[in-house]
Amino acid sequence: MTIISKDIVKAIEILNNDDVVAIPTETVYGLAGNIYSEKAIKKIFQVKQRPLFNPLIVHIHSIKKIHDIVSEFPDKAKILANAFWPGPLTLILKKKSNIPDLITGGKDTVAVRIPNHPVTLSLLKQLSFPLAAPSANPFNRISPTSSLHVEDYFKNTISMVLEGGECKNGIESTIIGFENNEPVLYRLGSISIEDIINVIGQIKIKNNKEIAPNAPGMLAKHYAPKTKTYLVNDVENFVKNYQNKKVGILRFSEDIHSINVVHVEILSKTGDLKEAASRLYNSLHKLDNLNLDMIVAEIVPDFGLGKSINDRLERATK
Ligand code: TXA
Ligand code: MG
Repeated sequence: MTIISKDIVKAIEILNNDDVVAIPTETVYGLAGNIYSEKAIKKIFQVKQRPLFNPLIVHIHSIKKIHDIVSEFPDKAKILANAFWPGPLTLILKKKSNIPDLITGGKDTVAVRIPNHPVTLSLLKQLSFPLAAPSANPFNRISPTSSLHVEDYFKNTISMVLEGGECKNGIESTIIGFENNEPVLYRLGSISIEDIINVIGQIKIKNNKEIAPNAPGMLAKHYAPKTKTYLVNDVENFVKNYQNKKVGILRFSEDIHSINVVHVEILSKTGDLKEAASRLYNSLHKLDNLNLDMIVAEIVPDFGLGKSINDRLERATK
């Protein structure tokens, strides 16, 4: 049985006991454990059924703590951290030697971020260690944006979800690493490329297959519903071919009327990409629970956070 509770003291007790707690962040819920506890970290991998070579993100509450985690903090990383932390930016930097291999998948780099959620910031401040936290979903499934999503996934395996409401951003953090001292964007996320460029100038993007073998979060199939899902430009035309199927629709801003459509999720009636991003996973969770024959999702405008949404939809439909 999983309890969903706002009791930070209880969460601290569980974490101090080498166990795991699901925690809220502004992006998605994470499955958290003490980075220095082998028992807790192994449990994270086991509960998620995640391959051990897929490294975890370390969560800290203050930029002052960065030197406990990384051995180098290049100027461009500092500029990005100052611009976006606390917030949905993950930096991949050279790790300190005491960061366990279990966290980094044996790499010499470590992923780190300061999440922007009052509950989890308060929790981190009261702990004597940072928290490793991958998204709190089984490997390859849709990330959770509410405590109920987490409970649904893990009711038999974790004892507590720390309640923090619905995740405001709703898509994972944007991940940036460094190659030859130049920033490289590895995962599209809750901070748009445009916002990154405004701060740091042009940046190389390797969001796709190039790094797939060592960063499985970028594997083509990921974030997937159980229901067969299609991604198309013209939803109305596409569903005409499936008159005898039970169809669920995920649309950007307009409704659709068709006899075989069981349910329509509209991401943002006003066409706001930020709102659309915040609702994406919740809408996919809802559609996936309706016992449909298929989900048909519409490609959203491909700029700003629209690029991040389309990226996740592409992976959901692979
Ligand atoms: O928004 C987020 O980032 C959420 C919340 C909970 O903070 N966390 C999250 O974690 O999305 P996860 O484990 O689902 O995704 C982390 C990604 C993975 O694709 C992993 O391969 C990559 O970060 N990663 C972690 N450390 C890395 C490293 N040293 N080098 C390359 N990729 C790394
Ligand atoms: Mg994940």
